[in-house]
Amino acid sequence: MADARPVVWVSQPLIDAVIEPLRAQVELITTDAVTAWTQEQLAERLRGVDGAIITLNERIGAAQLAGADRLQVIANVGVGYNNLDVDALSAAGVLASNTPDVLTETTADLGFALLMAAARRITESERWLRDGQWGQWSFQTMLGADIHGSTLGILGMGRIGQGIARRGAHGFGMRVLYHNRSRLPAATEAEVGAQYAELDALLAQSDHLVLVLPYTAASHHLINASALAKMKPTATLVNIARGGIVDELALADALAHGRLAAAGLDVYEGEPQVRPELLALRNVVLTPHIGSASLGTRKAMVQLAVDNLLAALGVAGEAPRMPSAINADAALAARAASGDESKKR
Ligand code: GLV
Repeated sequence: MADARPVVWVSQPLIDAVIEPLRAQVELITTDAVTAWTQEQLAERLRGVDGAIITLNERIGAAQLAGADRLQVIANVGVGYNNLDVDALSAAGVLASNTPDVLTETTADLGFALLMAAARRITESERWLRDGQWGQWSFQTMLGADIHGSTLGILGMGRIGQGIARRGAHGFGMRVLYHNRSRLPAATEAEVGAQYAELDALLAQSDHLVLVLPYTAASHHLINASALAKMKPTATLVNIARGGIVDELALADALAHGRLAAAGLDVYEGEPQVRPELLALRNVVLTPHIGSASLGTRKAMVQLAVDNLLAALGVAGEAPRMPSAINADAALAARAASGDESKKR
């Protein structure tokens, strides 16, 4: 007899201890090795499945959904979801979810680690030491910028931005400025220890600027040559959001010519490719998109994706009580309008 359970595809090896128990409830198709799926392969994989758990590396749009008649849910393992065309998913009646909250503190930790490593020249110092250059030491070797008592700027003041503000204000005695689409309530500003600033003031006054805003058409290359020119030449820039927010060639040029002191980058416009102009610089700390990469947090992210998926499939109770849905209203409205009962288990 045919298996009547929903079919679920998992696009990459994730955390087995969280994924494997799904076999009790769904027909599970896993991926054994890390795979760079082509757009065509993604469309092929989504055909005939009811749900998918995917990572930020898989881009899902109308072309991938075209033949996915049974698809009810895409559970994205990651808080950012610029890899999803949410309008196309909604129009197809496909629920989508992300993994906010569980990664907030871990990602704020990494943002602060990059800030400190860039400002205090940690990785550059280590390379110098390993290269056997300590014999060339002078009193002025590896002079960096102070973190305590300096001005921390945060662009994008969601949950992760607020976590970074708390660390700066309460841990390091920093003056914290932020800019965001909407201003935080006064009580939240007081609690995280941050003051609102216009974008130009934020750029001009920050000794260390951390980017934590979502990547959208409006934020594409927001930090370009003209924005960088407004920053202090002694400043540090940290990007833990998305690579496309920064014009990387303009950044490399500013770093190479002393118009910006240092940078810490966890995200890149063409990742996993990193521009040679950045790789050639000594004053940039480069990490491979590891913002949420602690074991505990990665487990929690996969668990949240599983919870979203099961709720959307109606396996774990009434659909769709998803803990972190992105488009529930729009997707369900599209289902109702098309009278597509097949997506309501
Ligand atoms: C990581 O970049 C995420 O969005 O979770």
